Formats: sequence, structure tokens, C-alpha cells
Amino acid sequence: MSRLGTETAFEVLNRARALEKQGKEIVHLEIGEPDFDTPANVVEAGIDALHKGWTHYGPAAGLPDLRQAIADYVSRTRKIPVSSDEVVVVPGGKPIIFFTMLALIEAGDEVIYPNPGFPIYESMINYSLGKAVPIPLREDRDFSVDVKELASLINDQTKLIILNSPHNPTGGVLTKKDILEIAEAIGDRNILILSDEIYSRLIYDGDHFSIMSVPGFKERTILLDGFSKTYAMTGWRMGYGVMRSDLAVHIARLSTNSTSCTASFTQVAGIEALRGDQSSVDKMSAEFQRRRDVFVTGLNKIKGFSCRVPKGAFYAFPNITKTGWPSKKLADALLEEAGVACLSGTAFGDHGEGYLRFSVANSLENLNLALKKIEAWVSSNL
Ligand SMILES: Cc1ncc(COP(=O)(O)O)c(C=O)c1O
Repeated sequence: MSRLGTETAFEVLNRARALEKQGKEIVHLEIGEPDFDTPANVVEAGIDALHKGWTHYGPAAGLPDLRQAIADYVSRTRKIPVSSDEVVVVPGGKPIIFFTMLALIEAGDEVIYPNPGFPIYESMINYSLGKAVPIPLREDRDFSVDVKELASLINDQTKLIILNSPHNPTGGVLTKKDILEIAEAIGDRNILILSDEIYSRLIYDGDHFSIMSVPGFKERTILLDGFSKTYAMTGWRMGYGVMRSDLAVHIARLSTNSTSCTASFTQVAGIEALRGDQSSVDKMSAEFQRRRDVFVTGLNKIKGFSCRVPKGAFYAFPNITKTGWPSKKLADALLEEAGVACLSGTAFGDHGEGYLRFSVANSLENLNLALKKIEAWVSSNL
């Protein structure tokens, strides 16, 4: 257990709730989940499924109709032929990370992962006894991958490379050109790629492009996507992996050994999410963009803060080095003294030092309140 990490967001949320119990006003910008309701058509499909008796075990890899809906969706959005036996449905995007590591990584295998990055990557690499090899994502490259640096990290022990675009926590997006260069650096080596595309529908500048769409890479890519962010379904727990069918069998076996299956009525609602009206996704995305613009503009007016405009996801990742404060200390002070809950960049790895992460999945009113609170704190403390 000592090798297993965690996700600081939940710890900060608990501390923020404890402060609220003491009567303090806290603006919550720590948790990465849409503040919107699950679209009504999806909720209705879930309720209907419950009434119709979708309350029993289902196949470990997912209901055939949902696997087919996902295969159609991924074929359409990534412009590659995908069949339903290449899809595994799991309770959230996270189990795909967990199962991929358990299935593929043996002691000493090297895994290249983005740093700063979603903390579960490093945690699971270490837990699987792999060697965690960070690829730093730097602000001066707009938090995209330095392909030369990536090439220098690849060796005969490299088993897996993790990509995440749009990226948590920086909001960086890998362009088609970036992906093609990364693919070229990997070449025809026998290396697998875990491509975490859970924010693929939340892009504000440019288009999403998957390494799975590059000829020769579909066979080596495990694509992670899901319903949590796109359809505001974090609590339903449903995500999926798309991979070669011979790999899918193993990932499904890990499901059999752990969760048995994803809740059946949830999966029926998932079919409606993918096949039904998509207007709520567009609305949510437009609203995140509006909030991003307001919040980032506001942050850039605060002394010591400078923030690039994130191109995707719903996070702002300002550079705070000019405040002279280390990230964790500043995040703690903002929570306890300013009443704004955010995360230290170091919650996403060592290369997150010098940054804070704010989620803009909160109302414009609260985002403006947070800006005011930070500004007031900065003017009396810096
Ligand atoms: C990059 C990334 N991948 C995966 C996940 C996991 O998503 P889920 O809630 O569907 O397990 C998250 C959630 O925050 C994330 O930010």
C-alpha cells in the first residue's frame, strides 16, 4: 500500500467541508467535475431502464448494445473502424488506467507519463512495480509534449506511454501535428499507448485528434474515454476502453475478478447519452469556455499570477512563481485564509511546482467571488 498514491482533490474537499462546518465561506474550485446536471434524456433513460428490470448482472465487458454504440461513436469521432469486441465498459475512466497497468506492467517495465498529470497514472505505475518515467509538460510549450525529450526517454524497457489530451491539470491540447510527431518518435517499436481522451469533447480551440487514428497505432493503443465529463455523469460511474480484441478479453477478465460488471441500468442510459440529443454537451462546453475566459482574464490581473489560456478541459493552471510562495503553501493559505479551495500543482507531480489548479466547473458568480477573495488576500499578504 505504501506505493499507492491518491488524488488530493478529495482530501482538499474534505478540509474545505470541515472549514464550512466551522462557519467559513469557501468557493469550491478543487474538484474536477461538471457542475451541470446529467442531461434529462439520459436520466429518463436510466429511470426507464430501472423500471424495465435492468437491475441484474450483465456481461463483464459491457452490454452488447452499449459496446456497439461506443464502437460506432469511436469509429465516427476517431475516423477508424472499431468493432464492439474491441470495447470494454467499466465503472468510470479510472478502472481502465488500473486494469491496463495490472494487465501490462511487470516489475521494471518503464512507463512514460505526463508530469504534471492526473495523479493516478504515477500511483498505478508504482503500484504495479513499473518504473515511472515522467515526461515534463512545460508552460513555454503550452504544456504539450516535447517530442525530442520523449524520444530520449524511450528505450528497450519502455512498455507503455501515457498521453492525455485535453490535459488535466493544464488544459493543454495535443494538436494533430503534435500527435503525428509523437507517433513518429515511437515508430514501429513494440510499445503500447494509453491515450486518455476523457476530455475529448471539451475543446475550445482546435480539434481533438487521437493517436489511435494514426495508421499503425490502432493495434498499439488503449483509448480511454467515458461519460463522466462529457455528459456530467461522474457519479454514475461509467467509462470505457477501446483496444485490440485480444487485449479487451484480458481487461474484461480483470472486470470479472473485481467489479463483475458496470451497473446495467447505467449502461442503458449510456446508449441514450451517445445516441440521443447532444445539445446539452454543446451548451455545457460553451459555458465552460465563457467561464474560462472570465476566470483566466481575472487571474492575470492578480499580482504574482500569470495564466495561459487553456485550450480544453475545465481547468486553469496559473503560474504563481512570482508570488514567491511554494504551490502547496499558497494553496493551503488560499483555502484557510481566503476561502478558495484549489489544488497545488504538486498534487499532479513534481513538475507542477510553481502552479495552482483551479476548476472552472462552478458558476460565473462563484468564479468572480473567488477572484475577489484571492485578490483581497494577495493585496494584504504579498
Ligand atoms: C485525465 C483524467 N482521466 C481519467 C479520469 C477519471 O474519470 P472517471 O471519473 O470517469 O473515472 C479523470 C477524472 O478526473 C481525469 O481527469
